[in-house]
Amino acid sequence: MALTATACTQNIEQQLTTSRDAAQQLASSLKSKLKSSLQSGGPAEAISVCNLEAVNISSELSKSFESHVGRTSLKIRNPSNAPDDWERKILLSFVQQQNFGANIKNLEAYEIIKDEAGKWFRYMKAIPTADVCLICHGESLAMPIQQKLKLLYPDDQATGYKVGEIRGAFTIKQKL
Ligand code: HEC
Repeated sequence: MALTATACTQNIEQQLTTSRDAAQQLASSLKSKLKSSLQSGGPAEAISVCNLEAVNISSELSKSFESHVGRTSLKIRNPSNAPDDWERKILLSFVQQQNFGANIKNLEAYEIIKDEAGKWFRYMKAIPTADVCLICHGESLAMPIQQKLKLLYPDDQATGYKVGEIRGAFTIKQKL
């Protein structure tokens, strides 16, 4: 019994480390891509880069980590980032924990989930809204940004954010 418990714990430790690494790499790749595209082409141009690159970077990382690596939110811009039931539950719990005074930087969650397709290790980490995010997710957007967003994302819900709010979360799903 003790052996089984240890083996199980070790397994989870490993999945957890992999998930944290994947979330970290997605965060830093997106951040540097955003920074360089804002500098080279300005915000309206950066939208196109985010639009294509966010998907590319996520799928590259999904391959190298043999996991699903992505982002989700309670208010999404891209409909393909919509949360499933588990993700929605965790996002709501992050908001609640923040309301009770938790620091966003420490908000993460993981659980082993079984479904028809098998057993999964699932992980999420909250993403804070920073100053630079307001250009495209804030309360008042510049006209060219509004226009471009409307064109690409007619059902965009991802505006109206303030600095410090939870913008969404990284979400990682590994097959066990
Ligand atoms: C130049 C405009 C721009 C800026 C600045 C920007 N974003 Fe976004 N964001 C986008 C676009 C475009 C998408 C949709 C990407 C896609 O198609 O997956 C998006 C999607 C997201 C998503 C995925 C969930 C969803 O709504 O579809 C998260 C999370 C997110 N952004 C967080 C941030 C954070 C945090 C910052 C600041 C560090 C930020 N964004 C800055 C344009 C921007």
